Amino acid sequence: MRIAVLKERAPGESRVAITPETVKKFAALGATVAVEEGAGITASIPDEAYREAGAEVVPAPKAVEGADIVLAVQAPDVMALTGAKPGAWVAATFDPFREKDRVEAYAKGGFEALSMEFMPRITRAQSMDVLSSQSNLAGYKAVLTAANEYGRAFPMMMTAAGTVQAAKVFVMGVGVAGLQAIATAKRLGAQVSATDVRSATKEQIQSLGAKPIFVENVAGIEGEGSGGYATEMSEEYQKAQAELVSSHIAKQDIVITTALIPGRPAPKLISDAQIATMKPGSVIFDLAVAQGGNVEGSQPDQTVEKHGVKIVGYSNTAGHLAADASALFARNLYNFLSAFWDKEQGKPVLDEEIGDAVRLTQGGKVVNERLTAQ
Ligand code: NAI
Repeated sequence: MRIAVLKERAPGESRVAITPETVKKFAALGATVAVEEGAGITASIPDEAYREAGAEVVPAPKAVEGADIVLAVQAPDVMALTGAKPGAWVAATFDPFREKDRVEAYAKGGFEALSMEFMPRITRAQSMDVLSSQSNLAGYKAVLTAANEYGRAFPMMMTAAGTVQAAKVFVMGVGVAGLQAIATAKRLGAQVSATDVRSATKEQIQSLGAKPIFVENVAGIEGEGSGGYATEMSEEYQKAQAELVSSHIAKQDIVITTALIPGRPAPKLISDAQIATMKPGSVIFDLAVAQGGNVEGSQPDQTVEKHGVKIVGYSNTAGHLAADASALFARNLYNFLSAFWDKEQGKPVLDEEIGDAVRLTQGGKVVNERLTAQ
């Protein structure tokens, strides 16, 4: 069983899908690991550390040659897989709803694409869930970045020269990233409020010591929603939410938006007119900017200033913490493959529940129901 890891090719991608720690763990399962030269540099992992852990560190074509499994953060172009075994698995993020051509190319190339974004939200798969591990770091980094852009302090400070008021932080979308954003803003001493469409998040917000701000007159999504995910809301709900946000947002200093709907563009939560009601010097961090954005006018990797308000958003927020993000991503991949490792066959054998959920292509065809049903 040969596992290959390439240097990420996507612009701005600083993470890597394997670490010396997981090289050793895969070796303990009986696999050999080949890593492309320089693959870990942007995540602060030198080639030497991979070699010491037992990996071959070689140029790209040689790394892929004869590979049974290729691991990546973002799925590489199929051309980069030339030399891998026929039917080789590629475990990575595929952005399957948007990158349909790539998925087709994997099918035609005879590869088995395993999309880590499609990991089911079940208890035993929590340790394999890259969306959670990366969102958690992204929520933290969003608050730190907003704090950096903000020309005032977060905590209340009583000094001899007078009192500095605590910053008011509003988090929109309380999934994994939102919960970490609330916790981080609280640790920095801000006054925090938060909202979501799923009613289950109300208690979670309160348990972190923040104030829930919820639409009361129109029903949202009961409990967790399907698979923990939100759906698109009715026009009536969207109108009620816009009114609620308008009255609340004008009093906020920092807004962190994290709202996502799987397979759909991110919902628009903040309009230009609402930005205009905010105080000059306020900061909005749009964590959904790469999925179309929650905020009107936000641009990936740019600071846009509108009505005196800074709007910030990274196309790859977790990538700004490349070392930790890589360590967690690599562990997610190891936890996934090792959970299914068949000792006799010396390779992983997926079960139906998780295998069918993550497998996009097999035997030359696109086989995933979430894609073929569209
Ligand atoms: P996500 O990244 O898909 O969305 C972020 C948040 O935005 C969600 O809380 C969603 O409800 C919210 N949202 C969507 N539309 C909105 C709107 N119009 N206005 C306001 N908020 C809106 O969600 P994420 O972070 O991936 O997780 C959602 C939930 O899934 C978690 O709270 C958790 O309960 C569950 N989960 C379970 C896992 C497991 O059991 N393996 C792993 C990860 C998450």
